[in-house]
Amino acid sequence: MISDTQILLDHNRAWAARMERERPGFFTGLMAQQKPRYMWIGCSDSRVPANEITGLDPGEIFVHRNVANVVVHSDLNALSTIQFAVEHLKVEHIMVVGHYGCAGVRAALQGLRIGLADNWLRHISDLKLRHRKRIDHLPTEAQENALCEINVIEQVGNVALSTVMQDAWDRGQKVTVHGWVYGLRDGLLKDLDVSMAGPDTIVDTFRAAIKRYPYAGSIPEPQSPDSVFDTLDGD
Ligand code: CO
Repeated sequence: MISDTQILLDHNRAWAARMERERPGFFTGLMAQQKPRYMWIGCSDSRVPANEITGLDPGEIFVHRNVANVVVHSDLNALSTIQFAVEHLKVEHIMVVGHYGCAGVRAALQGLRIGLADNWLRHISDLKLRHRKRIDHLPTEAQENALCEINVIEQVGNVALSTVMQDAWDRGQKVTVHGWVYGLRDGLLKDLDVSMAGPDTIVDTFRAAIKRYPYAGSIPEPQSPDSVFDTLDGD
């Protein structure tokens, strides 16, 4: 009987042979260099494969994935990947991609205990707390969807504020950070319209994106909104 993992190795052989037959020289071309224009920062979820859902070949997208697509300022893994992508590969677009139905976001929203990952997901629990007035009044499923989207918006901000991106923009390098969310139900990507292409527009772009999640009807929006970004321009 063929083992579960032998099946994968057999598929791989068949795939490599088909690629070489259909596009002779494909692998030797890739061996020479990779020149991806895109970087993907997404969730580890097995249902959200970057290349497949964007129709890209090997060599076309540089990928970093972790539980719930979080970019933490001190995470050397994510930062090193971003640095290599920006400074060496010179990617032009970085997409932070969340997805609806994310188990990590759900655990943070509901305060579920998973184990060690609770400490990682604490970053998302903090967002839930920071934006509670925009989230708490919604029905359950809408809360989850909103937190998935708000998490992406916050992570786009974190990428944009990283030293890697700040230095790249200081050098005049053209690289834009985008925020997308993927629907497991229909397989479609949605642009959250929070693209940041330079240091000057980060705060305004962030605020505009967050304000699309309004407070409950009777609660007035604050003069000074509710994010760390709002301390940047002094109000
Ligand atoms: Co997920």
